Amino acid sequence: MYWDKRLRSDFPLLERKIEGKPLVYLDSGASALRPKVVVDAMVNYEYHHHANVHRGVHTLSQEATEAYEQSRLLLQRWLGAEHPEEIIFTSGTTEAINLIAVGWAAPRLQPGDEIVVSVMEHHSNFLPWQRVAQQTGALLKIIPLCAETETLDVSALDTLLTKKTRLVSLAHVSNVLGSVQPLADVIQRAHDVGAVVVVDGAQWVPHNPACVAELGCDFYAVSAHKMYGPTGVGALYGKLERLEEIEPFLVGGGMVEEVSETGATWAALPARLEAGTPPIAAAVGWGTAVQYLERLEQEPGRLLAHSKDLITYAVAQLQNIPGLRVYAAEAERVGVVSFNLQDVHPYDLGQLLDMEGVAIRTGHHCAQVLMKSLRVPGTARASFGVYNTREDVDAFVEAIDVARSMLLG
Ligand SMILES: Cc1ncc(COP(=O)(O)O)c(C=O)c1O
Repeated sequence: MYWDKRLRSDFPLLERKIEGKPLVYLDSGASALRPKVVVDAMVNYEYHHHANVHRGVHTLSQEATEAYEQSRLLLQRWLGAEHPEEIIFTSGTTEAINLIAVGWAAPRLQPGDEIVVSVMEHHSNFLPWQRVAQQTGALLKIIPLCAETETLDVSALDTLLTKKTRLVSLAHVSNVLGSVQPLADVIQRAHDVGAVVVVDGAQWVPHNPACVAELGCDFYAVSAHKMYGPTGVGALYGKLERLEEIEPFLVGGGMVEEVSETGATWAALPARLEAGTPPIAAAVGWGTAVQYLERLEQEPGRLLAHSKDLITYAVAQLQNIPGLRVYAAEAERVGVVSFNLQDVHPYDLGQLLDMEGVAIRTGHHCAQVLMKSLRVPGTARASFGVYNTREDVDAFVEAIDVARSMLLG
């Protein structure tokens, strides 16, 4: 595949050696590496086009605005939204979800209302709802894991969803288990009881366009840095009518139509929800990252096929290692696999792998509720990006073997 060799040279960081060994980067789920074109686009913007956006008639301001708005259009296309105004730039998935919680849910929910999330949510898609529940007197209900498969127990929705359910919020792909949620089914059932559906798409969009309009969810949140773009920028997709309902939680420059001494009216979307100077260079870099992904996805499904090939190959090899337990082993998964080696602390395993040049993630992965449900303090997690190859998986498995002999004899 094109992936195997040539693409790696797009990523300067892959030339790094760690402990004298070639870097095998298996932590893209936390943050993906940037291709040179993304960094170049940001440098080019800073050197030749920077000014504030939406504010000036001068050439630079117009160029900056055009570059910033171009990224919104690229995002609209990758997310599959119908209108550019449905894309709100935020600082990331975390801010996007907080924006819904603070601006949409908190002013609406009342004692007795219900919010449904899953046990495997990242804290970014758990804590905002826990806080809204505490503030409003709503009840936070949690979809558990199916005991045998460790995937989402969809049957629990039969009792969890009620006429009181106002909002359901779910990750498209679990950042710990890698499992893909049956979103179409959940969205349909949630809408049937009149609930609004929020999807945390952080771990899906690096591997596939999102098709939000087709999915029919009300909101969808993403981060640039997981899709080969820079840190500090992300986006909230929302159906226009839902976004119109959000009370801006930041007010200030750029989001007003008219201000007087006694009141103000807000600008139209998307400006209404983008108060203050946005991360312009980062948004420009993100647009370039989306174009990079679009080139790889010229043949639709190619990105996902690459990702699935690697993860299937990795899971099969991991399952052959004595004493190693893969979580949700049989799940339909994308990009991420979590495991533990007997009772070895994942941190020790991670450190030994680092000595072999292999970068994995260890710990609770900002999903402590899931860790409690799995009854473990943490896991080791490997996650894959477009630059990874089957050779990386082999190096990873060999490094586990080395660590295993050192730790378990
Ligand atoms: C599923 C999921 N949701 C939310 C987040 C938070 O993303 P950010 O820190 O970019 O806001 C992450 C990051 O790891 C994630 O994996």
